[in-house]
Amino acid sequence: MGPETLIIENEAALTGLAARLGPLLKRGDVLTLKGDLGAGKTAFTRTLIRMLAGSDVEVPSPTFTLVQVYDFPAFSVYHFDLYRLEEKELDILELGWDDARRDGVCLVEWPERLGTLLPRDRLDIEIYFHKSKEEAREMMLRPHGTWEERLR
Ligand SMILES: Nc1ncnc2c1ncn2[C@@H]1O[C@H](COP(=O)(O)OP(=O)(O)O)[C@@H](O)[C@H]1O
Ligand SMILES: [Mg+2]
Repeated sequence: MGPETLIIENEAALTGLAARLGPLLKRGDVLTLKGDLGAGKTAFTRTLIRMLAGSDVEVPSPTFTLVQVYDFPAFSVYHFDLYRLEEKELDILELGWDDARRDGVCLVEWPERLGTLLPRDRLDIEIYFHKSKEEAREMMLRPHGTWEERLR
């Protein structure tokens, strides 16, 4: 399956994709989020985590902490923002990447920083600003490995 493109009219409309992906998630999953600063990588993650929680839990950007963890009955969600990894002179493994992969679902902003740790089996999400509408975004889903079947 090739990439799938969605037009998201405004931030509230992110719930549609969150409601579709949420039920598919299971322990060991990796979703990556690419897009320019302010595109909505954190906004989408927030929407997804709130949907899983069933409430408006606080979901701060992990810009400075680099990772935030949310515990759910079936798994924990590890929300990474790896942008400042090098500047903090940290290694992804020091952030608990192995534990996250073992018992969690990983949502990763700036996945380029994962290097060879980027798993083959994953769902890549790219977010682009809409050409003319300020509140709109284009989201591209690129499934890899088992995600090709699961997204269908
Ligand atoms: N359709 C949309 N999808 C996502 N965010 C949107 C949308 N429209 C407006 N926004 C705003 O864009 C900003 C996205 O910021 P953020 O999620 O922190 O970006 P990133 O994590 O990609 O740097 C937020 O201020 C959000 O309210
Ligand atoms: Mg962000």
